[in-house]
Amino acid sequence: MKTLKQLQTMKDNQEKISMVTAYDYPSARQVEAANIDIILVGDSLGMTVLGYESTVQVTVEDIMHHAKAVRRGAPDTYIVVDVPFGAVGVNEQYDLENAIRLYQQTNANAIKAEGAHLTKYIKNCSNMGIPVVSHLGLTPQSVGIMGYKMQANNKEAALQLIEDAYAVQQAGAIMLVLEAVPSDLAREISQKLQIPVIGIGAGKDTDGQVLVYHDILNYGVEHQAKFVKQYGDFSIGSDALAQYNQEVKNSEFPSEAHTYKKQVMNEVTE
Ligand code: KIV
Repeated sequence: MKTLKQLQTMKDNQEKISMVTAYDYPSARQVEAANIDIILVGDSLGMTVLGYESTVQVTVEDIMHHAKAVRRGAPDTYIVVDVPFGAVGVNEQYDLENAIRLYQQTNANAIKAEGAHLTKYIKNCSNMGIPVVSHLGLTPQSVGIMGYKMQANNKEAALQLIEDAYAVQQAGAIMLVLEAVPSDLAREISQKLQIPVIGIGAGKDTDGQVLVYHDILNYGVEHQAKFVKQYGDFSIGSDALAQYNQEVKNSEFPSEAHTYKKQVMNEVTE
């Protein structure tokens, strides 16, 4: 497993960091086998696996259930767990209790929280010993306000994002995920910050990249964002299932090869 120190050294040496989401045991096993540096148990779980409309419906219990399976599948990978909507930003005690539960019960290496308003929370968690990854730019938990579109695409908003990035670093964030922002701005922030900046829809000049497992593999994807590249095609699973269905209906399956052939009925009737 990469340590935080090693991830930091990767940034310092300009070695790119890879991150991908995973939500269950088999996907975690695949990600670990691919030597990806970091797994994110993202709240994109809501849309990719649970059939929710957005990340807003995801609960602490949902994330914990899936993160525990991911840890079982990837015992040797640095895992970041999302703090879901409503589990932070309420009051200090409630926020911290949720952070402790998520961190302690999932055996993750860090938690990730969306938004520039959470500097105090990042500080409190850091003081407790909980490493926090900040997430700025497009923050999907605020989709009701910002929509799914590029952020910080004018001078004022760009300067604000730079200020916010400094603020979360200053508060103790160990890493920053930067989503759907212009690539020149993402490059500037990556160069200015000491902590690793992981981009998604933020161009190639960040310290690393993150994508959603289901997007990479075209697995049940209903809408694909501009910044997604598909590397595989799990949609062929539907063809396989249709063929299975057909073979059951035609009595083609199971064939001899899939059948136990030992004769026992003679013995039974003797
Ligand atoms: O939940 C998620 O998958 C994320 C990534 C898009 C960064 O937060």
